[in-house]
Amino acid sequence: MTDRASPQTAAAQLGMESLQRLTQFARDMGRITNLSMIADRILSGLSEVAQYQQGSLYLVERERERFRRLVARGAAHESSVPPVISLDHPLVQELARHQQILDIFMLADGTHSNAIDDSRLHMLESLSSSFAIPFLNRGRLVAFVLLQSKPATNCIDPDSMELLTAMAQSAANALDSILTYEDLHQSQTLMRRTDRLRSLEIIAGGFAHEIRNPLTSIKTFIQLAPDRKDDTEFIRDFSRVVLDDVHRIERLIQEILDYARYMEPKLTDEDLNDIVSSCLYFIEVKADSREIKIEKELASELPRVMLDRQQIKQVLLNLLLNAMDAIGEQGGTLRVRTSKLMKPEDKAWVQIEIVDTGHGISAANLEHIFDPFFTTKHTSGENEGTGLGLTIAHQIIREHQGEIQVQSMEGVGTTFRINLPSLA
Ligand SMILES: Nc1ncnc2c1ncn2[C@@H]1O[C@H](COP(=O)(O)OP(=O)(O)OP(=O)(O)O)[C@@H](O)[C@H]1O
Ligand SMILES: [Mg+2]
Repeated sequence: MTDRASPQTAAAQLGMESLQRLTQFARDMGRITNLSMIADRILSGLSEVAQYQQGSLYLVERERERFRRLVARGAAHESSVPPVISLDHPLVQELARHQQILDIFMLADGTHSNAIDDSRLHMLESLSSSFAIPFLNRGRLVAFVLLQSKPATNCIDPDSMELLTAMAQSAANALDSILTYEDLHQSQTLMRRTDRLRSLEIIAGGFAHEIRNPLTSIKTFIQLAPDRKDDTEFIRDFSRVVLDDVHRIERLIQEILDYARYMEPKLTDEDLNDIVSSCLYFIEVKADSREIKIEKELASELPRVMLDRQQIKQVLLNLLLNAMDAIGEQGGTLRVRTSKLMKPEDKAWVQIEIVDTGHGISAANLEHIFDPFFTTKHTSGENEGTGLGLTIAHQIIREHQGEIQVQSMEGVGTTFRINLPSLA
């Protein structure tokens, strides 16, 4: 057992060990999706193979034309390298052009020394480093690692050099896909915001139109009041109308502010049945007092969904309140059903169906129910609608990559369906 291995078997073993390390490293690269965790894993993996204790990893920030340090090992090293390095730094340019590992010991080796090596040597020294590993993706430098050696460290052996190159390739792919994902996420957020702003423009137009009526009545009252100040009946009636109008304007302003304040959905892993039950709990008392029977059919094995709990609750509550308004005082049934849907692309979706036996929606109105400020609830006072409920619901469902559909028949009732993509 104490026999020394022949040179061949030692080399073969080293090769096998390297392969195992590489496999494990590549597996971790595929598994970790968090940027700082992956940066840690890359730096520790490379430092271990190179047997360097200190180092740092820099990642490109494309839109800012620089590299940013994501992680560093060793306090001395951290204080000797800058947090950001510009794209036109000579070392960065050299790594991008040369596309190979720079090793201070190889460069300083007198046998190969030439003017180019000397300048590379200086570039490394200028960043207090002895080793630089470029990470390339489709020929472009996406990141690099700088390592700092202990004084007694020697040149890295060829096998480790091969392993480092392969690890750098695997890390480059992983970092590139995280960057691409982040870019995509950013542009999606931007698109959603633009979308919202565009509909806000429509809303603002509608808002101006909506407040014109109440403003006219307030103005009329103010103009007439001085002459009619002794007419108590006039003053009493008109004061009530004006107060209603002021409330309406206040409600409109609140709605519009809620809508304008852009809130990125905070997605959490949720059970939709749970959300439906909690919304039904809110409306039960009101439904009871109006003789509205609630039928709840919740699917037993509903896939979970990534969604913003508050926003989806807001959508469901608006649909439920609309349904109760449509049923009115004469009583009726409100059925809420959840189910699993299979879409053609084989992805699982979940569906919520809200069915009421209310007065229904005419074909002409059906075309406009999602328009900002479209409402048929004109009775003044607390029950007056702003006509923004469905506009907001539609926007929220869109932001969840879902769909909202409606079917209605006058005198029979209305069905709203919301489809949301599930996690599975
Ligand atoms: N379940 C339903 N049955 C009949 N009509 C409906 C139903 N849901 C919506 N509507 C019609 O669509 C219109 C717009 O609905 P929306 O929720 O956007 O506004 P609203 O309910 O009038 O006001 P708000 O929700 O701002 O209080 C309603 O006024 C109503 O005419
Ligand atoms: Mg509504």
